[in-house]
Amino acid sequence: GKGEYDHYMKKEIHNQPTALSNTIEGRVEDGEVSLEALPEGSFTDVDAVQLVACGTSYHAAIYGAQLLKSAGVRTEVIRASEYDSVAGPVDENTLTIAVTQSGETADTLGAVREAADRGARTLAVTNVVGSTVAREVDDAVYIRAGPEVGVAATKTFSSQAVTLTLVGQRIVADLDHAEQAEDVEAMLESLSDLPEQVEQILETTDAERLAKQYIDSQSFFFIGNGLGNPVALEGALKFKEITYEHAEGFASGQLKHGPLALVTEQTPVFAVCTGGDDGKTKTNAIEAQTRGAPIVAVSPDEHPVVDTADAHLSVPDTHPVWAGLLANVQLQLVSYYAADLLDRPIDKPRNLAKSVTVE
Ligand code: F6R
Repeated sequence: GKGEYDHYMKKEIHNQPTALSNTIEGRVEDGEVSLEALPEGSFTDVDAVQLVACGTSYHAAIYGAQLLKSAGVRTEVIRASEYDSVAGPVDENTLTIAVTQSGETADTLGAVREAADRGARTLAVTNVVGSTVAREVDDAVYIRAGPEVGVAATKTFSSQAVTLTLVGQRIVADLDHAEQAEDVEAMLESLSDLPEQVEQILETTDAERLAKQYIDSQSFFFIGNGLGNPVALEGALKFKEITYEHAEGFASGQLKHGPLALVTEQTPVFAVCTGGDDGKTKTNAIEAQTRGAPIVAVSPDEHPVVDTADAHLSVPDTHPVWAGLLANVQLQLVSYYAADLLDRPIDKPRNLAKSVTVE
């Protein structure tokens, strides 16, 4: 049941420290990633990676693909529903990763089946043991987030992004040509602090107050660059899904190529800064602010964007690879409190189903 919580969504947001501890458990040892089903050397033949997913899982896939891309591994993230028309060439050295919480999403199953038909090796990153995807692929890695009841995916995004980053590092470690990140050890070490840092956000968040402050706005924008980009996209998806208010997520640099026309004092802009490549997020947030938009920085306390922002949601200091996940928890809370203020049926938004088994 929901226990002490009013909604499953809130319970699941608050369950993230536990879910993440389970996700990580036993998977980092002596500065290396160890994945039960996929021992060292499992990926030596891989020369390209495709990730296929929908919705929140698609955002987690963009997040999780970043490490592979920065290591120079050929990597594409593809919306599963578009696989047939947009996927690049595939052969037996292609690894196609289906990212799906439920393991039952028709679009994602369709894409991974098509990839297998074209000769790719397949891997599922899923939450559900025994799901259709897990039965059909060559290998499966479980995110171990525990059952998710709320239609809006929350804890599973966090566990997917972590699992995919670990899978990415396992692949990079197996490939001679891949550029090992200089600070792999620091990155893996700081992962163990993540559950506690999520807890810290849950205890100190200002999200409810900010939701109240901005609830009457016309439209809600979320911008981010690099790893902040999938977080901005996910922030907007969650917001529209459960509040029924208009929300959009953009790559920071794209704001001036069109969406800026919509910006007024009625469009708060959440600027996600992860401590990585955030210059564009700050300059584009300032452009919006010049047109009257309130800026909410979602960033570490010491980040330069905080000086110009109208409000701030704090992200505990961590390695830049994980900071976006913490920013995302703040945005989950903003959506939750905004939807609660509007008295929406948070766990079962209209027109949506937890698992979408039609194409
Ligand atoms: C959003 C949401 C959906 C799912 C999408 C894929 O909160 O839950 O966007 O992420 O339908 O579902 P799975 O991950 O089960 O394939």
